[in-house]
Order: sequence, then structure tokens, then C-alpha cells
Amino acid sequence: MPRLIPDLRTLWDGEHKIPWNDPAFSARILKEHLSQDHDLASRKQQTIEAQAEWIRSRYLADGPSSILDLGCGPGLYATLLAGDIHRYVGIDFSPASIDYACQTFGHAQREFRLGNVVDAPFGGPYDLVVMLYGELNVFSPKDCRLILSKAYEALAPGGCLLIERQVSAAVKAVGTAPDTQTQADSGGLFSDESYVCITHNHWLEDVAVSLQHFHVAHYDGRMKTYRSTTKAWTAGEMESMLGEVGFSSVASHDDWPVPDEWLTLMSACK
Ligand SMILES: C[S@@+](CC[C@H](N)C(=O)[O-])C[C@H]1O[C@@H](n2cnc3c(N)ncnc32)[C@H](O)[C@@H]1O
Repeated sequence: MPRLIPDLRTLWDGEHKIPWNDPAFSARILKEHLSQDHDLASRKQQTIEAQAEWIRSRYLADGPSSILDLGCGPGLYATLLAGDIHRYVGIDFSPASIDYACQTFGHAQREFRLGNVVDAPFGGPYDLVVMLYGELNVFSPKDCRLILSKAYEALAPGGCLLIERQVSAAVKAVGTAPDTQTQADSGGLFSDESYVCITHNHWLEDVAVSLQHFHVAHYDGRMKTYRSTTKAWTAGEMESMLGEVGFSSVASHDDWPVPDEWLTLMSACK
């Protein structure tokens, strides 16, 4: 499989991220969200509990609040954040995750909506908006700015946004990693059938983007290429963008509980 040459003009066109919203893919990746063997898709329960407690103690201590969770996945933070006190809305475009969240954590005070955070209405006003586990980095700069702007509009005055961002070194490490070839003899993330996946990694220094091509070949000759495109935002760039859409009091939090140094938390207030 020859390496495809990245075209900077079409980097963010079409399906530039793994197909979280494809029903079959979403059912397969749900198992990874829930697995306690690794931190793929969602962190292990211990980290989620520590993060939820960190948020509750700092942002949800003063009586009933309203929380919006963007890219909520299977809702693993919902009950931990909301308890019996707060109202929680989670939005995600993965059908299997939203089904799981509704069945497992559904409650009069907790609502899960199937929607794309780029174009779904957020509603509100909320006291707290969160977007966790580095998902903001896999949106185009234009959509990233749009999501931040929509979050600002959805917040009540004095409300806060928490963004967990992939640090630049983590994004660059993905783009500069060696190419790989893996064999999924009894199926895997990309298919229930056997396949081989060749992953080509690219680091595009000029735009600070890592691009992965996953070439998935089935043994009957069927072939499909998926992409994953990730923008490395520096803390300064993220702070500027938050300021441009209206936020103030931007802060970074070194005590945010993460299992490694690849993610970091930034807060901003309306
Ligand atoms: C890395 S997972 C994190 C899930 C959850 N926040 C957690 O930490 O357990 C990213 C989530 O973002 C969702 N997602 C990605 N792009 C989205 C979009 N455009 N609209 C809504 N959800 C999206 C995916 O379906 C996935 O559930």
C-alpha cells in the first residue's frame, strides 16, 4: 500500500476522523469505552471517578447546577457528575454509546442526545460545559472555534467551560510514530471480519497536524481507508481562541488527575 500524500487543502474535508457515528463501528468501539484493560476511547473507571470528583469539588459544590457534556460517549461521567442534585445533558453522535448511556444512566435529571456537536443545538443555559478526553483536537480549526462559540452561548453568565486538550507533544508523537501493520484475525475495531490494517502516520509541521491513514484490507480483496486528523493546539493558541469567542479567566490546571502527561485541562468562564 503506497503512502498517500497529504493534501493540506483537503485535510479537514469529508470523513477526517474515525467513524464514531457509524452504527456498526460505534457498537465495536463501545466495548473499548467500557473495557477496564486500557484507556482507549474512555479512561478506566478509577480515572473517571477521580476526574468527576475534581470537577464536582471545584465547579459543582454550590447547590443545583446544569451541566452539558460534549462528546459524552457512553455517559460514564453522567451519574458521577450529576449525583441526585444536578441536571446533566450529554451529546454524542455515536448511536451505540447514546443507547448504552440511556439504558444505563438514564434518569429524569440526566438526558442523552444523539447529535453532532458541530450542528446540534446545545440548549441551555448551563452552569458548566465540559468536553473531555482530547476530542476538541480532532475538529478542524473552524469547527473547533464554532464549538467553543456555541459553548459560550449556551453558558449562563458566570458559567464555566472545561476543555481537556491533547498536548502538542502528544499530537506530534502520533504523527511521527513508525508506520504499523496489524492483523485482526477474528475482527477488530474496523470490522467484525478478519482484516489487515496498515497505518501510515504523517506529521504536518506547517499546520501542526498529525494525520493517520488506516488502510483496512479484508481477505476477499475489499479495501477501505479511514483517516484520523488531529490538530496540535498550544496553550497560548487555545487561550487566544477562547478569548476571541468571549471567554475570560482562562486557566490551566496542573492538578487535573490524568494517568499520563498527554492531556491537560483548561478552564474558561463567561
Ligand atoms: C475519546 S471519546 C471520549 C468520550 C467521553 N468524553 C469519555 O471521556 O468517556 C470521544 C467521543 O466524542 C464523540 N464525538 C466525536 N465527534 C463528535 C461529534 N462531531 N459530535 C458528537 N460527538 C462526537 C465520539 O463519538 C466519542 O464518544
